[in-house]
Amino acid sequence: MPTSMETLLEVKNLKKHFPVSSSIPFKKSNQSVKAVDGVNFNVYSGETLGVVGESGCGKSTMARLINQLIKPTDGVVTFKNKNLVEMDAEMLRSTRKKIQMVFQDPYASLDPRLKVGQLIAEPLVIHKVETKESRRKRVEELLEIVGLNKRFADRYPHEFSGGQRQRINIARALALNPELIICDEPVSALDVSVQAQVINLLKQLQDQFQLTYIFISHDLNVVRYMCDRIAVMYLGKIVEIGTYEEIYSNPQHPYTKALFSAIPKKNPFEQKERIILKGTVPSPLNPPSGCHFHERCPVAMDICKAKAPKAITTENTHQASCHLVH
Ligand SMILES: Nc1ncnc2c1ncn2[C@@H]1O[C@H](COP(=O)(O)OP(=O)(O)OP(=O)(O)O)[C@@H](O)[C@H]1O
Ligand SMILES: [Mg+2]
Repeated sequence: MPTSMETLLEVKNLKKHFPVSSSIPFKKSNQSVKAVDGVNFNVYSGETLGVVGESGCGKSTMARLINQLIKPTDGVVTFKNKNLVEMDAEMLRSTRKKIQMVFQDPYASLDPRLKVGQLIAEPLVIHKVETKESRRKRVEELLEIVGLNKRFADRYPHEFSGGQRQRINIARALALNPELIICDEPVSALDVSVQAQVINLLKQLQDQFQLTYIFISHDLNVVRYMCDRIAVMYLGKIVEIGTYEEIYSNPQHPYTKALFSAIPKKNPFEQKERIILKGTVPSPLNPPSGCHFHERCPVAMDICKAKAPKAITTENTHQASCHLVH
């Protein structure tokens, strides 16, 4: 956990409702997929904030909203005290240099027609940073930083393994000296042994360059190793946020309790029962009323159907949105 609690990024009431086309020709549909539905959180300089939650709960959409790859329906994204949502194109372009992304699929995210050197230099070319000669030097330096041979610059991506490709993606993300890197399932497509190497590289780079990470993953063990704090998402909302310890040892939201009951206990004598949730994640096209989780919640009350719960701070940095939390 970083010593300073300086806010680097603040997200307020962030929403993305994707319009759905009507099945009737020429008739506008008033339905929308509520992929992200009013999300609030801060990210502090130098920390790793993990984002967990079932498939389709809006993690990747949230990542794309943060660096404005897609425009939000509503809400504010403040990076270093400036709202990205209201920036003009020029200002956004220069601010985006400081926010980079690493995606899940190391195969799809590298253009097979370009050499590794060109791929890594691409952000420098787009942002007109450095001369042609100094770019080559920077590319070689970046390759070495991510643990690859500098001669690899003249090869093509297909000549590399998944782990090496993810290193190339990381080198690309580092090219413009970012402050925040959003990693969207960066190791999910890799073998377990390679996963550990890439995770360790990310940790080492964080120390070396004072990076801040948002780390999206469905693997709670990877999250435990990597993250200082965790945000738990359910159907477009953050239902609980706190340090790993706060969430692991004292989960407040019934969804978090179920999610964390699935990971092995630290102490073999600890009593911990696996909670199996009923049903499947409801559609974000038509989310349940009140608390989005109430239909699957083992302890739901009448109020949960009628009213969405507010985020309540339970201890220090720990917050949960549940009517049972006071
Ligand atoms: N461009 C789009 N148009 C319509 N719906 C979309 C669009 N992009 C995402 N969605 C929907 O938004 C919801 C959230 O998707 P998202 O990809 O953010 O989930 P996720 O949490 O990243 O899932 P996963 O763990 O599988 O990666 C899903 O129901 C998805 O179908
Ligand atoms: Mg995703």
